[in-house]
Amino acid sequence: MHRLALVSLLLVAAGVAQGSPPSKRFFFAPQCGSASQALTANSSTTIQSPNYPSNYPNNYCYEWNFSCPNQMTLSCPDIQILSLFFCLDDVLEVSGNGERKYLCGNTALNYVVPANGMLFARFRTDWLLTAKGFQCTVSCAA
Ligand SMILES: *[C@@H]1O[C@H](CO)[C@@H](O)[C@H](O)[C@H]1NC(C)=O
Ligand SMILES: *[C@@H]1O[C@H](CO)[C@@H](O)[C@H](O)[C@H]1NC(C)=O
Repeated sequence: MHRLALVSLLLVAAGVAQGSPPSKRFFFAPQCGSASQALTANSSTTIQSPNYPSNYPNNYCYEWNFSCPNQMTLSCPDIQILSLFFCLDDVLEVSGNGERKYLCGNTALNYVVPANGMLFARFRTDWLLTAKGFQCTVSCAA
């Protein structure tokens, strides 16, 4: 397809997506895999995009839930998510402390959830373009 035609098509798709509620902010909805884990005090685990540090796949979706009896921190020192449209297409979505984050581009995150809270993260990609992704640590305080 001609590049200009492709861009126009994506702009139309972005317009449609932008009118949707936040939970539906994507072009296409691949089935999401999921995992939930109850972290114990003074423990940590890692989440990452598939293939990290090689590029993540297209049309991918996975979500994680974590609980922790103490303060919980999601630390992502290096996020590289290729989004053409304001984190509508490829995005790492994070919530749990009252502030919902949509992360894309080259960025980093340190996200703190209060004691006895839930941390939710979802990584979703569309059919076009990929990048390195992310590797994050989820820590449940001692
Ligand atoms: C994760 O949390 C979300 C929102 O709190 C919930 O809708 C979803 O069912 C949970 N998923 C799992 C696997 O526990
Ligand atoms: C936390 O874990 C570390 C390493 O496993 C241990 O050395 C430390 O004593 C623990 N702290 C508490 C408060 O349990």
